[in-house]
Amino acid sequence: MRKRVTEQSDGGNVSSSSPMHSKTTGYQEKKGLISKLWLWVKRGAFALCAICMMMPIVVELPEIIKQRIYYHRIRVPFVFDLSQPAELALNHTINMYLTPEEGISLGVWHTVPENKWKEAQGKDSAWYHRSLNDGSPVIIYLHGRTQTRAAKHRIGVVNVLSSIGYHVLSMDYRGFGDSTGEPTEEVLTKDAVWLHRWVKERSGGSQVLIWGHSLGSGVATNTAVRLMEQGVLVDGVILEGAFKNARVYIPRNPFVRYAMLYCLTMKRFILRDELDLNIIFPNDENVKKMRSPLLFLHSEDDHLTRLHNVQQLFQTALSVQDAERVRMVTFEGSLGYLHNGLYKDPRLPTIIKNFVLSTEEMS
Ligand SMILES: *[C@@H]1O[C@H](CO)[C@@H](O)[C@H](O)[C@H]1NC(C)=O
Repeated sequence: MRKRVTEQSDGGNVSSSSPMHSKTTGYQEKKGLISKLWLWVKRGAFALCAICMMMPIVVELPEIIKQRIYYHRIRVPFVFDLSQPAELALNHTINMYLTPEEGISLGVWHTVPENKWKEAQGKDSAWYHRSLNDGSPVIIYLHGRTQTRAAKHRIGVVNVLSSIGYHVLSMDYRGFGDSTGEPTEEVLTKDAVWLHRWVKERSGGSQVLIWGHSLGSGVATNTAVRLMEQGVLVDGVILEGAFKNARVYIPRNPFVRYAMLYCLTMKRFILRDELDLNIIFPNDENVKKMRSPLLFLHSEDDHLTRLHNVQQLFQTALSVQDAERVRMVTFEGSLGYLHNGLYKDPRLPTIIKNFVLSTEEMS
């Protein structure tokens, strides 16, 4: 085998240096020109095809950007009925539909503290509503940008909070899960503000805290700031897997950048599209204004929201509030929690309990 290979390559060398080569140069040049031209024709045709194929995408670009931020159409797993939380091992939970404004229905689960699970069997919504003022802390859980309140890691957090004796209200934003309407930064914030008021009207003197995960951290800080403007100080805010802000990402590649800006502008001109390009959930601005006790939870190996961004948020918060009101707990990357898995940590119940206790002392 080895010998044959050597022979072949020797042969190749001989033919390329033969005198025949120079005689054929003119013909080859012509041939080269034609094949070059042909290449450009092919490239042109390909570009045309690409443009034709891109057109629908381009027209839909603003919608795509919105989807990139909310992903509310992605509802998997949606094989089970959101109105039956008991089927998901949340047997002390009631499903309800709340109406923050006419024509809008929001799917919300209310889970009572786990020590009430037996008592809760077969109870109606009136019992659940009354139970809200039993003195146990209440957590409003604002989830991230995909799926529904039934996602595994969300149920995981609800279970942890319920096991340490808290009520949890877990809401699907407009357009998510079985909630109606379309998500925008403004309505998400409005709905969370509305839910906070709804809870406060029923929770007596209990602590009411807001937990925001991922995109929900943006809704949480917006809500805290909005409530402050209305003269209400939220008892505490927990931000899990938070980000600095979610300004619309315009790519750096000059061609893509130009095309994107061009299309957005055209669409706005032609269709008078209402796309709000200021979808920004400015956590970095909000923490400067917030005066609620804050707890940041972040996994070092979070691949979606980077730890150093949250460390900056934490520093910003520390610059405007006392150190005992602002805490940050990070989880070792070796645990592999990534963006969603903090609920698995055995230390989490104690971390949360300590924080909630401290907010009681401070308020
Ligand atoms: C209901 O949930 C509680 C708390 O999670 C659990 O301990 C209990 O076994 C469950 N009961 C039933 C009948 O599923």
